[in-house]
Amino acid sequence: MDVISVIRTKRDKGELSPEQIDWVIDAYTRGVVADEQMSALAMAILLNGMNRAEIARWTAAMIASGERMNFDSLSRPTADKHSTGGVGDKITLPLAPLVAACGAAVPQLSGRGLGHTGGTLDKLESIPGWRALLSNEEMLHVLDTTGAVICAAGDGLAPADKKLYALRDVTGTVEAIPLIASSIMSKKIAEGTGSLVLDVKVGTGAFMKNIEDARELARTMVGLGTDSGVKTVALLTDMSTPLGLTAGNALEVRESVEVLAGGGPADVVELTVALAREMLDAAGIKDADPAKALADGSAMDVWRRMIAAQGGDPDAALPVAREQHVVTAPSTGVLTRLDAYDIGIAAWRLGAGRARKEDPVQAGAGVELHAKPGDTVTAGQPLLTLHTDTPEKFDYALKSLNDSWDIAAEGTTFTPNPIVLD
Ligand code: URA
Repeated sequence: MDVISVIRTKRDKGELSPEQIDWVIDAYTRGVVADEQMSALAMAILLNGMNRAEIARWTAAMIASGERMNFDSLSRPTADKHSTGGVGDKITLPLAPLVAACGAAVPQLSGRGLGHTGGTLDKLESIPGWRALLSNEEMLHVLDTTGAVICAAGDGLAPADKKLYALRDVTGTVEAIPLIASSIMSKKIAEGTGSLVLDVKVGTGAFMKNIEDARELARTMVGLGTDSGVKTVALLTDMSTPLGLTAGNALEVRESVEVLAGGGPADVVELTVALAREMLDAAGIKDADPAKALADGSAMDVWRRMIAAQGGDPDAALPVAREQHVVTAPSTGVLTRLDAYDIGIAAWRLGAGRARKEDPVQAGAGVELHAKPGDTVTAGQPLLTLHTDTPEKFDYALKSLNDSWDIAAEGTTFTPNPIVLD
């Protein structure tokens, strides 16, 4: 087999054979196929697509590049959730302990921030002492004793995806449905969860900007999961506006703790409870009430134990950025748009995200929202507060907030998008 013939097949709109796919994934993982060759193939896939059989084989080859985990020793059914990524998407933080409090085991192998989207591990690392890196034994122990674990995927899980994902990130080949679907599902299937709920985001702050693409991605992933014996369902959810009132690391942890304490922004609570219901249903747990588990403190109890089991101090003060800058509303009226992508870029530029994968993130940096679409605002009132340790970044962040909101005349009737679209 030679890589040039594989690239040519896809370049010329052909179908890759199972042998070609197995060979190219294995050879790339071993370093026999070079990055420039794999990026040519990824671009050909982005431009010409893959059919269902090719996507299934590509996913299977990425799973086979590493180890498979197994949760058979646990007494509870496992349920996992994956979001395709958005701005202010802190849902994993309250959701994992909530679903555990309702009786499932929740293994959440999570990632770091990517571009304008935040990363669950970066957020949790703002809690003093908390560790993302666990051995497989430690992960199982935390899961078994607390019911939930949120940690980094070990190097052994789908190593082909790790390499390919980093390459796609720097070659403009992230936004290909076959590559996104196989990337996400290879990790989830290798992880060994019994059931999986996919939160497929749609809107300016998501990879999928329109509902047709999001639906195709969702269907592709549900097909891959189901064919592998993982009970898989997907929700399409809105990402045209940031979720909740914060985008940033410690800022989002604070908001998540508010949700676990029975408060927090309505959209975060609504999506957390909706996803919890889907996860419990997929795991076969029928009689649990996630809204009650938030209200009665049982989800908070699991959160505290889960954080402590990974070295974190759930009572420690969270970091606060050294400097703040307030952005005010330019006019009075009804806020009808607050762009998720622009807010995500601003948070990233303030230091909440990284420009290169080895860069550190600032725990306190980010954007706080003082109004959401549908709210009435008054000229001069705070609309956003920008947070950073490095005030020279304010100007750079403000440049991304040029045309990021619309304010309609006072009294305008406006109904924001529902959170769950389908
Ligand atoms: N998340 C992943 O894990 N992979 C992708 O390709 C996109 C988002």
